[in-house]
Amino acid sequence: MPPCTHLWSDRVVPRLADRALSTGPVMRLRARVVAELRGRVLEVGFGSGLNVALYPAAVTEVDAVEPSDVGWELSAGRRVRATAPVRRVGLDGQRLEADDATYDAVLSTFTLCTIPDAALALAEVRRVLRPGGAVHLLEHGLAPSPAVARWQRRLDPVQRRVAAGCHLSRDVPALVAGAGLSVDGLTAAYLPGPRVSRPWGYVYGGVARPVAAP
Ligand SMILES: C[S@@+](CC[C@H](N)C(=O)[O-])C[C@H]1O[C@@H](n2cnc3c(N)ncnc32)[C@H](O)[C@@H]1O
Repeated sequence: MPPCTHLWSDRVVPRLADRALSTGPVMRLRARVVAELRGRVLEVGFGSGLNVALYPAAVTEVDAVEPSDVGWELSAGRRVRATAPVRRVGLDGQRLEADDATYDAVLSTFTLCTIPDAALALAEVRRVLRPGGAVHLLEHGLAPSPAVARWQRRLDPVQRRVAAGCHLSRDVPALVAGAGLSVDGLTAAYLPGPRVSRPWGYVYGGVARPVAAP
C-alpha cells in the first residue's frame, strides 16, 4: 500500500468515522442497542468510543478491542468520563485473547463491515460469551432492495479503499446466524437521508443470543 494510503486509512478515516457515525439518528440507534448491556462487556472495534456515554449503569467493566491507535486516542476524553472502567485488551477481533465464556455481553457497532474476516470474528465473539450472554449489534450491510444491493456490490471495491477496508454488502443476518446466534432480535431499516445514500445506510440493530444446540 502506498504511504499516502496508509496515512489516509490510519489518520484520516478514524476521524471521519467519528464524525459520520455520531449523527443524531445514529446516536439514537446506538442508545437502543446499548441499553440492555450488563456486567462484563467486550466491545469489538471500539473506535473513538462513541458508545461510552451510553453504557448503562449495569455495565461493570468494558474490555475494548481496537487496532487503531488514532481511534483509541480520540476516545480518551470519552473514556475518562465513562461510568465503568474501560481498558484496551487487544487489537484484532479475529483473534481474541480472552478465555472461553468470559463476557456477559459483547458490543459491536459498525465494525463487522471492516474486520477482514467477519465470520471468524463472530465465531470468536460466540466463544468468549458466557452462557446466557448476548451480542449487541448495530451494523450496516446488505440492503434488501436488489437495486441498492447491486450498487453496494459495485461500490464495494471503492469503499474498501477509501474507508479503510469497509464493505457495504456484508450479509449481517447470514453472518450472525453462521456463528450460531439467533437473528430474531435484529431489526433493520434505512437511515434517514436521500435515496443515493442508501448503499451506505441499511442498518441492522438489536441483540443476538446463542441458539441452543439441537
Ligand atoms: C467504522 S469504524 C466504527 C468504530 C466504532 N465501533 C463505532 O461504532 O463508532 C470500524 C472500526 O473497526 C475497527 N477494526 C478494523 N479491523 C478490526 C479488527 N480486525 N478487529 C477489531 N476492530 C477492527 C477499526 O479500527 C474501526 O475502529
